[in-house]
Amino acid sequence: MASPFDVRARTWDDDPRRRGLAGSIFAALERAVPLRTDMVALDYGAGTGLLTLALAPRVRRVLAVDSSAGMLAVLAEKAGAGEFAVETLRADFAQDPLPAGPFDLVASAMTLHHVADVAGLLRTFFALLAPGGWIALADLDAEDGTFHGAHAAGVHHLGFDRTELAAKLEAAGFADIRLADAARNEKNGRAYAVFLAVARKP
Ligand SMILES: C[S@@+](CC[C@H](N)C(=O)[O-])C[C@H]1O[C@@H](n2cnc3c(N)ncnc32)[C@H](O)[C@@H]1O
Repeated sequence: MASPFDVRARTWDDDPRRRGLAGSIFAALERAVPLRTDMVALDYGAGTGLLTLALAPRVRRVLAVDSSAGMLAVLAEKAGAGEFAVETLRADFAQDPLPAGPFDLVASAMTLHHVADVAGLLRTFFALLAPGGWIALADLDAEDGTFHGAHAAGVHHLGFDRTELAAKLEAAGFADIRLADAARNEKNGRAYAVFLAVARKP
């Protein structure tokens, strides 16, 4: 099925704000998760790979998952030129078959707010992780709906309340839950706070 992101894929990386945000999110992830070169990682809502390709040199393999074939096509072109193990999977975990796990890290940047059933997705991430595996989810703090402007189609959450998200992570089975500031995303003359939620599967 076509995704509204398909038509945005070719110009997605042109915006320096997006590249800067992904860099800040990766820096926060690096501070919070002890990355190892034997890790197998999954990046959910990987888009054009701004986070995937930062992660790839630091782990053994990354599976980049996204529901937009257009976004993944751009990611595959960029990854093809590199020397790191990156695979792509077009999927929406709410309805498509899951990849074979287990994974040592599930990361996701700016995608959770596009997912209707966040609690269900967190349970899926938990099932895909190896014991001791890490989750690292970056998204907007609660906002007033101005962030997406004309691109509000497919937005299910106006950011997240950190306490409520931590409770959902706990209900899904995660432990060692920490939420910290990851970035300030400047857009439309305003600053939107972005958090990184990190937790482990016991
Ligand atoms: C705002 S973009 C973020 C892309 C990338 N993570 C980044 O930081 O540049 C959100 C991405 O999530 C994908 N997406 C939206 N809903 C999804 C879903 N239900 N399942 C998988 N991917 C989804 C979109 O296709 C898009 O590539």
